[in-house]
Amino acid sequence: MRGPPERVERERIAKEQFHTKKTPQKSKEQRVAQAAVSERVRVRDSVAKPNDIEIRDNTGQGSNHIEQARCAAVQAPGDAERHQRMGEYGRHRPELGRVSMKDKQIAVVTGANRGIGLEICRQLAENGLEVILTARRPQAAEAASQSLSSVGTVRAHGLDVTSDDSVRDLADFIEREYGRLNVLINNAGIMLSDGPGTGLLDVPLDTVRETMETNTYGPLRLVRKLHGLLQAGKRARIVNMSSGLGQLFDMTGGNVAYRLSKTALNALTPIMAAELPGILVNSVCPGWVRTDMGGSGAPRSVQTGADTPVWLATDPDLQETGAFFRDRKRIEW
Ligand SMILES: NC(=O)c1ccc[n+]([C@@H]2O[C@H](COP(=O)([O-])OP(=O)(O)OC[C@H]3O[C@@H](n4cnc5c(N)ncnc54)[C@H](OP(=O)(O)O)[C@@H]3O)[C@@H](O)[C@H]2O)c1
Repeated sequence: MRGPPERVERERIAKEQFHTKKTPQKSKEQRVAQAAVSERVRVRDSVAKPNDIEIRDNTGQGSNHIEQARCAAVQAPGDAERHQRMGEYGRHRPELGRVSMKDKQIAVVTGANRGIGLEICRQLAENGLEVILTARRPQAAEAASQSLSSVGTVRAHGLDVTSDDSVRDLADFIEREYGRLNVLINNAGIMLSDGPGTGLLDVPLDTVRETMETNTYGPLRLVRKLHGLLQAGKRARIVNMSSGLGQLFDMTGGNVAYRLSKTALNALTPIMAAELPGILVNSVCPGWVRTDMGGSGAPRSVQTGADTPVWLATDPDLQETGAFFRDRKRIEW
């Protein structure tokens, strides 16, 4: 039985309004908050799940204490000082989660499965950069990138800096995925032996060649292949990981292969700066750092060792190019 005509009409209008009702407009704040949540979910889902693969212990007894000669005089900043510095540049900034892919800075770090390179990746990711963590053993790159999956977007890629094919493969990957590059950190390095056998008269020439191939020709090979992608990126930077042992101003004997390779890398830095307009190129000495290369007796942590390279790669106010740095200050060649 139907009710009075007015009631029927009221019900008809109510039904019509119900079915044609538009979703109320969200406020601007609601839309921004929802976009931030979606972006966090996208970033979380785009990185690999944490892994259970063991990462090498960088504080283990290393074979080499060579950097002591140059770097012992450079005191390691205490944790408080480091955290103060990191507060400026290395803190996690959630607002960077809203940076669009177009504006996101892309960074490549070589030799990044352990030591200072791995920590550089961590700090770059904390700064909101998308990091391509490379290592000569692809599985090591994968394991290391997964260990940073909770920090930010860190992608693994194999790279042997002594191989033209490997460098070409990386360049193709970056071209395909991004079409540009903002930061290249030439971190991969070797110091083949210490003690007897490293001097002028007894170091095997093959040791000198192998060291130059990795520490000097590696960065040269990468820059020759990646400069176009870097020039396509905004505010591009190249950071060459050098050493106080390569400083000419008080060069002395011993560790001939390593010294030569880092002095030559230092020479490449102003050459790159001069020939690659628009890219800031600098050398850095991380100090004497507790890694497999530096040994367990080194005074500096990897966090401290990574601080200046990351600063050179990310500081928006940096103007210097073709220079040599330690602890965020210029040092002599
Ligand atoms: N530690 C110090 O006190 C100190 C001081 C001054 C300068 N540095 C410089 O800082 C950089 C990092 O040193 P670190 O102490 O972290 O050294 P590390 O712990 O010995 O690590 C060296 C990294 O370089 C990689 N690597 C070696 N040859 C490579 C190649 N052909 N292709 C790609 N990757 C390669 C290694 O990969 P694998 O795991 O596959 O071997 C490893 O990931 C080096 O350039 C070093 O000369 C270090």
